[in-house]
Amino acid sequence: MMKLKEIEELDLEGKRVLLRADLNVTFKPNSTEIADDTRIRESIATIQFLQQRNAKTLICSHVGRPKGKAVPDLKIEHVRTRLQDLLGAEIQYVGGPCDESIAETLKSAPNGSVAILENLRFHPGEKANDPKFATYLASIADYFINDAFGVSHREHASIAGIAKATPVYAGLLMRAETEMLNRALESDEHPFVAVIGGAKVADKLPVVENLAKKADSILIGGGMIAAFQAAQGLPHGETELSSKELNAAESLLKNPETADKLVIPIDITQADRFAEDSRYILTHKTWASEKGYILDIGPWTMGTYIHKLAHARKIIWNGPVGLFEWKSFSAGTVEVAHAIARNNDAFTLAGGGSTVEAIQTMNLTQHFTHISTGGGASLEFLEGKTLPGIASLQHHL
Ligand code: 3PG
Repeated sequence: MMKLKEIEELDLEGKRVLLRADLNVTFKPNSTEIADDTRIRESIATIQFLQQRNAKTLICSHVGRPKGKAVPDLKIEHVRTRLQDLLGAEIQYVGGPCDESIAETLKSAPNGSVAILENLRFHPGEKANDPKFATYLASIADYFINDAFGVSHREHASIAGIAKATPVYAGLLMRAETEMLNRALESDEHPFVAVIGGAKVADKLPVVENLAKKADSILIGGGMIAAFQAAQGLPHGETELSSKELNAAESLLKNPETADKLVIPIDITQADRFAEDSRYILTHKTWASEKGYILDIGPWTMGTYIHKLAHARKIIWNGPVGLFEWKSFSAGTVEVAHAIARNNDAFTLAGGGSTVEAIQTMNLTQHFTHISTGGGASLEFLEGKTLPGIASLQHHL
């Protein structure tokens, strides 16, 4: 049996704790104004837990992809102030990420205090998973806690390499995420319905493949509609598909065990060009055009999806079924979101940046059992992969 190392196991009074959080938020275009602070909010519980137990907490995180160099727009300061406001306590900036004075500063910090390191990715050792950088991080504190579920899929020093230098304990968010995603994949709750959409076909087909072993129905949307149209020998518009994507869709359809579970749109919304103000038609899948782009599911398909979702006892949703940011192509995603939100009897989990954005835009967040803070991480989890950041937390009983 596998169990996470948990923070309740620790005597934290007066101890120095390095807390890896995922404060990698999205900013408004060309600005350092935070667009969505969900990840900051979700990191608060563990910080408060450490404050209440009188630890000396030093938070560390990455922001963006600065490629091992200091980039002013990606300084930790842009998230520190919001975190400080939400926490309602001072968060001291200590510089770094790699700086000899930091260990001393933390030693002399008062019990219950909270400080923050500079963006971890300003140091090239973070992304390179450099053992020296991991050893340095381990040396700063008595305990290392990982609450950064959203980065669990990265083989980076503060996520993976760190486990070779010190034991890694799971924070409260990390625990909630792994418990919920494990339940989503492993619990015996049926009918189990998955909705998989989104733009990136290559990322989603392996998820469909893994879920087909467990779910009762997989409702297909987004860029994958074109892949399955092509796999059925039907027109799929101008969406470019690699031969790998086409082969993957074909083999899912050829395998009777997976084909039985796939629910592929029978009708679609097809735009004449890839633009918000394009002209579009609602059409049966066999009458799709070789021109233009499939940007949403059609009304008959919506009816089928609503029915399946209404009767489910467990639902996973990753990826909008249409281009919901453009009003003319948002209907499918709106119907799916409301159908899931209406089903109070089901365990419901959603993940992925644009899915979460769609749910937030519709004010439906509170109707979901769990909304994952992980984009790529939740996707790889659903694919059945072992994530380095979770493997480093586990020990055998
Ligand atoms: C995310 O935003 O998915 C995580 O913070 C990981 O960031 P990355 O994709 O830049 O590694």
